[in-house]
Amino acid sequence: MATTTAKLLDTPFRKEVFDGLSAYPKYLSSKYFYDKKGDRLFQDIMAMPEYYLTGCEFQILSSHTGTIGELFRDRENGLDLIELGAGDGKKTKVLLKYMAENNFNFVYKPIDISENAVEMLSENLANEMPALTVDAEVGEYFEVLERLKGFNKRKKVIMVLGSNIGNLKHPKAIEFLTKLKDAMLPDDLLFMGFDQKKNPQTILDAYNDEAGITAAFNKNVLTRINRELDGNFEVEKFKHWEMYNPETGTAKSFLVATEAMQVTIEKLGLTVNFEQWETIHTEISQKYDDKIVHWLAEQSGLEIETSFTDEMDYYKNYAFRKV
Ligand code: AVJ
Repeated sequence: MATTTAKLLDTPFRKEVFDGLSAYPKYLSSKYFYDKKGDRLFQDIMAMPEYYLTGCEFQILSSHTGTIGELFRDRENGLDLIELGAGDGKKTKVLLKYMAENNFNFVYKPIDISENAVEMLSENLANEMPALTVDAEVGEYFEVLERLKGFNKRKKVIMVLGSNIGNLKHPKAIEFLTKLKDAMLPDDLLFMGFDQKKNPQTILDAYNDEAGITAAFNKNVLTRINRELDGNFEVEKFKHWEMYNPETGTAKSFLVATEAMQVTIEKLGLTVNFEQWETIHTEISQKYDDKIVHWLAEQSGLEIETSFTDEMDYYKNYAFRKV
């Protein structure tokens, strides 16, 4: 049993699905939302009126382009602009255009977990900004962090937009920020988006849209298990459930089994039993305030140099330096 299982669990996806569905309570990582269909659903989410994050960050980058751009200013030997979780690059393009128009000598290095997103972005930039040097890569955050240390020959700016850090609980966020700090030199900058605490209803609505796009996005992890691991989840028998705790600032997503069922996942040699109303925890989307961001920075050996907010104070981008 042990040896056959080891062979079946030879990728992180397989191992994590096996572990998460064998655990109690059950969980699956939101990392696995992002295949071709998941990328499309996330694009739809970013276009929904309820999902204010994208519009707010776009507004921040558009109204402070020059100030942010000059924070990034290149040196004699140029600049590496590294973006983790680049996605479709829509917001980043505002900055890329400023930098291109103001004679920055730089390489743009977008990194994303979705192979599909990286391909689409590279193609799009080759068309829209042919003069730009783009060196894209597929990878997971923690996996690419080590490679960042190699960017030590000239100034670098590391960007993480979209409040992507919100998928990490605070201890993991500190681990992540500490590793970013370890890859930084004194002149380097970390530029990050943090969605802020606000009216709890506004946050709940952002993850609980009427049209069910967020529900479909969450359920896509089950569809993906069906397709890639020969599972037989009856996806429509799961209900998307969203919770927001205004005290901790944590929004939490679940898929809830609406009836008792048995699911088999052939490629994992796994049978999973669900009781009626049993849950699978799929995602956290952490919300922040200045106090929490200060604390995270302090715990990670970083300091906040400056920050930018939108008209409604819904969202903030912070620029950090190594202490
Ligand atoms: C891309 C992780 C920032 O948590 O807000 C959107 C993903 N999940 N709607 C978020 C997401 C449900 C998003 N992040």
